[in-house]
Amino acid sequence: MAERLPYVVLSCAISLDGYLDDAGEERLLLSGPADLDRVDQLRAESDAIMVGATTVRKDDPRLLVRSPDRVASRRRAGLAPSPMKVTVTEHVKLARSSAFFTVGDVPKLVYCPSDRVAEAQASFGDLATVVDGGETIAMRRVAADLAERGVRRLMVEGGGTVHTQFLAEGVADELQLAVAPFFVGDPRARRWTDEGAFRWCAQHRARLVETRTLDDVVLLRYALSRRCRD
Ligand SMILES: NC(=O)c1ccc[n+]([C@@H]2O[C@H](COP(=O)([O-])OP(=O)(O)OC[C@H]3O[C@@H](n4cnc5c(N)ncnc54)[C@H](OP(=O)(O)O)[C@@H]3O)[C@@H](O)[C@H]2O)c1
Repeated sequence: MAERLPYVVLSCAISLDGYLDDAGEERLLLSGPADLDRVDQLRAESDAIMVGATTVRKDDPRLLVRSPDRVASRRRAGLAPSPMKVTVTEHVKLARSSAFFTVGDVPKLVYCPSDRVAEAQASFGDLATVVDGGETIAMRRVAADLAERGVRRLMVEGGGTVHTQFLAEGVADELQLAVAPFFVGDPRARRWTDEGAFRWCAQHRARLVETRTLDDVVLLRYALSRRCRD
C-alpha cells in the first residue's frame, strides 16, 4: 500500500539573492503586511506547522493563527484555534521559555533522535510530546508519523536546513516563495537552501502555478507534486 503523507507546503520569504535572514541578531523583516496575511491564511488552512530548532531559538516564533476571523472559522469547523506545532532537533537545546512551548493551547511535538529522547523528555517532556525520530531523522518519516497523528496538511516555515531536507527527500507538494525587493549580499547569512540532490533541475523544471503581487513582494507558487492543484 502507498505510504500516506500529508500535503506538504514549504513557505518562506527570501531576499533577491536567496537569503532567509541577514547575519545580525535581529530577525530580518522581508515581508510586508500583505505577505504576512498570506502566511496567516496558510497557517489557518494547516493541521500542523513545522520549523527547525534554530528558527525556534533565533526567531522565537509563536506559530499561531493571528486573524480572529480565521480563528473563529477554525473553531466553527471543530478545529483548535491554531494548528499543532512541530519542531525537530538533534541537540535538544530548546529553552522552556520559547514561545513554541509557552504560547497557544495546541499540541506541540518535538522530534529528536532515539539516543536523545530521554534527555528531551527530562528537558521539556512536560511541555511537549517528544517523538523518537529514529537514529537519524528523515523528513519523510516525520511526515508519515504526522499523517498517523491525523495531519493532512503540513506547513513548513523553515529554516533552510529543514526546507533543504524536504526538497531533497522529495517530500514537498508545493512551494510558496515570497521574494522581497532587496539584497542581503552577506555569505555569513542563511540562504533558503543548502546544496542537495534536488529533483528539479534544468531537465526537470518545477511547474509555476501562480505569481501574486503582495505590496512590494512577489509570491511565486510552484507545484512540486501532482497533488498540487493550480
Ligand atoms: N524568511 C523566512 O521566511 C524564514 C523562516 C524561517 C526561518 N528563517 C531564518 O532561517 C534561519 C534558520 O535557518 P537554519 O537553516 O539555520 O535552521 P532551521 O532549519 O530552522 O533549524 C535547523 C536545526 O533544526 C534541527 N534539525 C534539522 N533537521 C534535523 C534532522 N534531520 N535531525 C535532527 N535535527 C534536525 C537541528 O537542531 P539542533 O541544532 O537543535 O540539533 C538543526 O540545527 C534563521 O536565521 C531564521 O531567522 C527565515
